Amino acid sequence: MDEPSTRTELKPLAVVTGASSGIGYELARQFCEHGYDLAIAADTPLAEAEQAFRSQGAEVASLQTDLATEAGVEQFYDLIRSLDRPVDVLCANAGEGLGHAFLDQPFERVRHVVDTNVTGTLQLIQLIGRDMQARGQGRILITGSIAGLMPGTFNAVYNGTKAFLDSFSFALRNELKDTGVIVTCLMPGGTETEFFHRAELDDTKLGTSKKADPADVARMGFQALMKGDGDVVAGAMNKVRAAIAAVTPQSRLAEMHRGMAEPGSGRK
Ligand SMILES: NC(=O)c1ccc[n+]([C@@H]2O[C@H](COP(=O)([O-])OP(=O)(O)OC[C@H]3O[C@@H](n4cnc5c(N)ncnc54)[C@H](OP(=O)(O)O)[C@@H]3O)[C@@H](O)[C@H]2O)c1
Repeated sequence: MDEPSTRTELKPLAVVTGASSGIGYELARQFCEHGYDLAIAADTPLAEAEQAFRSQGAEVASLQTDLATEAGVEQFYDLIRSLDRPVDVLCANAGEGLGHAFLDQPFERVRHVVDTNVTGTLQLIQLIGRDMQARGQGRILITGSIAGLMPGTFNAVYNGTKAFLDSFSFALRNELKDTGVIVTCLMPGGTETEFFHRAELDDTKLGTSKKADPADVARMGFQALMKGDGDVVAGAMNKVRAAIAAVTPQSRLAEMHRGMAEPGSGRK
């Protein structure tokens, strides 16, 4: 007769960065709903989010840390390793924008955007991706953006970082195609989150226009990741915008972006 199992079956584990608000919060909720435990990080306190996810039945490990720094990413990875269980899903989602003219931006803020959106994101994907590759299993959802498909006049560095992530995501997906590790790029358009206020884009057309519900965006990201799709552009209008961007000259796109992100454009 088989010995009765003494260990209760572990739930799968999802790691979500930027889970304190917006799309990351909703992604974490999706994973709770689908029976995952969580390891989450953000750079402000996570107690409230943690409580919400626990009330959905998930075990939650969390860390308040700056993922723009190498030490911050390492601390988060240490926390994940201390759980002594495999990571089934990584949502590399934390990110920030920065409005206004590039030459007017303080360089430390420029660097923070690049280090959060690109450097820290890559570091965490490499650390967790190596573990997934060794196991021959795992799913990585990278939050890129349709902003990566166009030059981002008056949010120029941000759009550049998202162009990087959109491209990187497909390259990594191809590198890993025979390994059991799936990479999907979530490409939202304007979504109703803290993002625009934090990026000082409140008085722009981008900031004032109607936006998608982050819960819908997260649901689309979850579904695309589980289906194993290469990318998902969230929402019908954004699919149209992405298609237009693909056939429009860069200089024209840059001018169009000026109309949406120039300070004061939201008041016109
Ligand atoms: N909103 C949109 O229209 C839109 C469109 C396309 C793509 N996206 C992308 O979606 C992702 C989520 O943004 P969101 O719209 O949900 O905005 P959000 O509500 O501002 O959420 C951003 C999340 O990232 C975290 N974060 C930012 N910088 C961090 C850092 N250095 N270290 C640790 N955590 C950090 C924030 O943590 P704290 O709250 O603790 O600061 C927050 O949890 C970003 O990658 C963004 O580029 C957004």
